[in-house]
Amino acid sequence: MKKIVFSTGAGVSAESGITTFRDAGGLWEQYPVMQVASAQGFAADPELVHRFYNMRRHDLMAAKPNEAHLLIADLQKDFDVSVITQNVDDLHERAGSRDVLHLHGELMKLRSITHPDYTETLTPGNLESSPATRGRNGDPMRPHIVFFGEAVPNIEPAMRLAAEADVFVVIGTSLNVYPAAGLMECVRPGTPIYYIDPCPARTPPLPDLHVMPMKATEGMRLLAAQLRSEA
Ligand code: APR
Repeated sequence: MKKIVFSTGAGVSAESGITTFRDAGGLWEQYPVMQVASAQGFAADPELVHRFYNMRRHDLMAAKPNEAHLLIADLQKDFDVSVITQNVDDLHERAGSRDVLHLHGELMKLRSITHPDYTETLTPGNLESSPATRGRNGDPMRPHIVFFGEAVPNIEPAMRLAAEADVFVVIGTSLNVYPAAGLMECVRPGTPIYYIDPCPARTPPLPDLHVMPMKATEGMRLLAAQLRSEA
C-alpha cells in the first residue's frame, strides 16, 4: 500500500475558522509571541500564558474539521497515511486521521512540569488551566505546547516518516519554523512532493516539488482524485 505522508501547518485549519499565525490579522499580530509562546515568557508570566491557551481552547471548541481534514482522513481507505502536524489543534484526529504526530504539542493536553512525560487530556467541560492546576498525581501542570526555545522531541520520528513516504504532501505552512520546515528535504530522491498553499512560501529547488497555489480544501479535492487515479 502506498505511503502518503502529510506535513500540515495552520493553513489546513484556516477554513475551520482557526486563525493562522503570520497571515494578516494572525495570532502573532494580536499577541506578543515571546510573551505567550516562549519558555522565557512562561517563566516570566505563567498566568498570562495559561490564559492565552485557555482562550485558544475555547476557540477550538467552536471549530470543526473542514473538508481538507476529512479528505486526508478518507485517504486512509486506500493508502497508508501518516500526518505530521505543526498544529496543536485536534482537528485531524476529529476528522478520523488515526496516525497523527504533533511536532509543537497538543492544545487539549496539559503536562507535568516535574515529569514532562506525564500528560492529561482536557475535555470540553474542563478546558482551563492556571498556575494552580495540579495533575491527578499532584504535579504542577502546564500547557502541553512546545514553546519557542524548547526542543521538538517528535522531529526524529517525523524525519523517519518523511523518509518512508512514497508521496509527501505539505499543506498550509509558511515554512518559517524549523525543524518542521526542513521535512520536505528528508524525502527519498524521486519522491513526489505537493505543496498546497494559496500564498506558497519560497522553497528549496526540489526537482519533484509540485506547488499547488490554492486553499487546502481545493488542493485536497484535486490531489485526492489524482492519487486515486494513479493508484
Ligand atoms: N489553505 C491552505 N493554506 C492556507 C490557507 C488555506 N485556506 N489560509 C492560509 N494559508 C497558509 C498561509 O498562506 C501560510 O503559508 O497557511 C500558512 C500559515 O502560515 P503560519 O501562520 O506561519 O503558520 P505555520 O506555518 O503553521 O506556523 C508554524 O509557527 O508560531 C509557530 O508553533 C507555531 O506551529 C506554528 C509554527
